[in-house]
Amino acid sequence: MTQAESEISAGTFEEAQRRSRALRADFLVNPSKYRVLTGDRPTGALHIGHYFGSLKNRVELQSLGVETFIVIADYQVLTDRESVSAIPENVNDLVLDYLSVGLDPSRGRTHIFCHSHVPALNQLLVPFLTLVGMGELDRNPTVKEEIEAAGLTNVNASMYTYPVHQAADILFCKGNIVPVGRDQLPHLELTRKIARRFNQRYAAAAPVFPEPDALLSAAPKILGLDGTQKMSKSRANAIFLRATADETASLVKKAKTDSERNITYDPAARPEVANLLFLISLCTGEEPSAIAARIGDGGSGTLKKAVTDALNDTLAPIRARRTELSSDVQGVVRSTLRAGIAEANRVGDATLAEMRRAMNMDYSL
Ligand code: TRP
Repeated sequence: MTQAESEISAGTFEEAQRRSRALRADFLVNPSKYRVLTGDRPTGALHIGHYFGSLKNRVELQSLGVETFIVIADYQVLTDRESVSAIPENVNDLVLDYLSVGLDPSRGRTHIFCHSHVPALNQLLVPFLTLVGMGELDRNPTVKEEIEAAGLTNVNASMYTYPVHQAADILFCKGNIVPVGRDQLPHLELTRKIARRFNQRYAAAAPVFPEPDALLSAAPKILGLDGTQKMSKSRANAIFLRATADETASLVKKAKTDSERNITYDPAARPEVANLLFLISLCTGEEPSAIAARIGDGGSGTLKKAVTDALNDTLAPIRARRTELSSDVQGVVRSTLRAGIAEANRVGDATLAEMRRAMNMDYSL
């Protein structure tokens, strides 16, 4: 657990888990009650940790017919870096990763957009900032940890206010479900407070904003191929969705294991081996201990071969879709964003008009 995660009380986490289970059951019955808002910062290509932790969930929600807005949080990149040179390529990679895993805007219920291109969304930020206290922003454990992790000595104000911006990302389209990891729970709690405070202050008779629920991923956190740290681009321990079958094989070959030949599933004593078994399990659905029993004396060579095969089988359709898209990458990315941005603006303009009316700022011009 990270420092931020340990500051998020177990009670809060357990409550979010309980709520997530109830929501999953209701999606099947009432998909049209829900609007999902989810997103990523365009800071690099996505890896299998993202796939099992969140992308797969998004595709499942899509197949249930739940409307989904996916924000590419390009302004949020500015919180901890000055250079914007990598942004266009990162946006490109992100859209391609989304489409490759099966998110499909052509069905009309999945909208992929960059928040820099939705003026109304950004305008929500101005009144929202009046609904939170400096102390609340200062205490956010996830923000504190990000500042520390990035080793920032000079922290700009957007680092403290981006959770409020994130509330605007969620509420501009009245998203009521936000699939997130545990580290994002403080941001979601702030979003709920902002919605509640706005409604109480300006719209008591007819609430404008929903109080969105977190949807926690059912899959526990995936470790990188080093078996000790979270899978992450910056730690060079990740398998990217765009990796070829051969690249995947050679990355897995370098994965850390231990000196004991007999393969057993023992996460506490043998975290590296357990993580590889867990990866296979995510791909095949088989229990990690059953996989271990099958491999047994085959040792880490057999284990790694099984990991490679399982990953390559899972990634094969994703790779095939990416190949299909590769004939006109620029065209596909542009038309995806154009459609998503148009829909986000349509929805955002309506919300902004409603918000202004609630705040007595509708001058009938
Ligand atoms: N802050 C999120 C992250 O770092 C990305 C993000 C931006 C987001 N806006 C969002 C996530 C809205 C969920 C909802 O991963």
